Amino acid sequence: MTTLAQMAVEVLTTADGRAKTALSRRHAAAWGEARQAGTPIPVGRASPPPRPARPAHPELLSPREMPKRRPGTEAGRLAMLHAVAHIELNAVDLHWDIIARFSGTPMPPGYYDDWVKAADEESKHFNLLCDCLEARGSHYGALPAHAGMWQAAEDTAQDFMGRLAVVPMVLEARGLDVTPGMIALFRKAGAEDVIAALETIYAEEVHHVAYGAKWFHFLCGRDNLDPVVAFHALVRRHFPGGTKPPFNEEKRAEAGLPPDFYWPLAEENAR
Ligand SMILES: [Fe+2]
Ligand SMILES: [Fe+2]
Repeated sequence: MTTLAQMAVEVLTTADGRAKTALSRRHAAAWGEARQAGTPIPVGRASPPPRPARPAHPELLSPREMPKRRPGTEAGRLAMLHAVAHIELNAVDLHWDIIARFSGTPMPPGYYDDWVKAADEESKHFNLLCDCLEARGSHYGALPAHAGMWQAAEDTAQDFMGRLAVVPMVLEARGLDVTPGMIALFRKAGAEDVIAALETIYAEEVHHVAYGAKWFHFLCGRDNLDPVVAFHALVRRHFPGGTKPPFNEEKRAEAGLPPDFYWPLAEENAR
């Protein structure tokens, strides 16, 4: 029987974006149905690849090499859509990667439910953004994209709590900060399909941050650690300088991330 960890590796080793998300959604449905039926798929053990398989396009450039486009223009909005699609595709891999990579640490079944659901939602987000790109005569891969999106995953490949701190609780929380501004930009342009996609993303991303906070606290409790102290130490080690205002304090609170987690790091960065 295929284990959940093997399913994760199958998604990670699928290069094409639409094929990756289709497989991701099929695996998520199979996991969910088996859990409902009371015959859960075993988690098992598997070694994920160091980096997920990626299509030949987009071309990956360093942030410095990325062409600058003004957000108020059609080209600028298209570039923004493309950049968000790239983030969502990375997010699909990040959620499957955390399942496989740390499969040696026993966790309750609900932990896997959460990340499988998050991976399924990221797959939907990628597809929604691809639909928006294609409706505008473009597609994922038509423009260059940021290299180094996998850096945070590599930096925390040996550090389970570090991964939870940096990926859902810093990077995905940052998504909550910036998405309302993006929605406003596309509202000005009257792009109804993009507004709908971004509103779905905004609503669902709160849960991904919440899953991160939930399981981070769980692991702290297991090891009798102070969550705030542990969080600060891990973010300083793996992602210094990555915590910057303005913060969406309301949505962060909804996701179980109170101000004492991020403000002290932001103040350190400002000094
Ligand atoms: Fe997403
Ligand atoms: Fe997410």
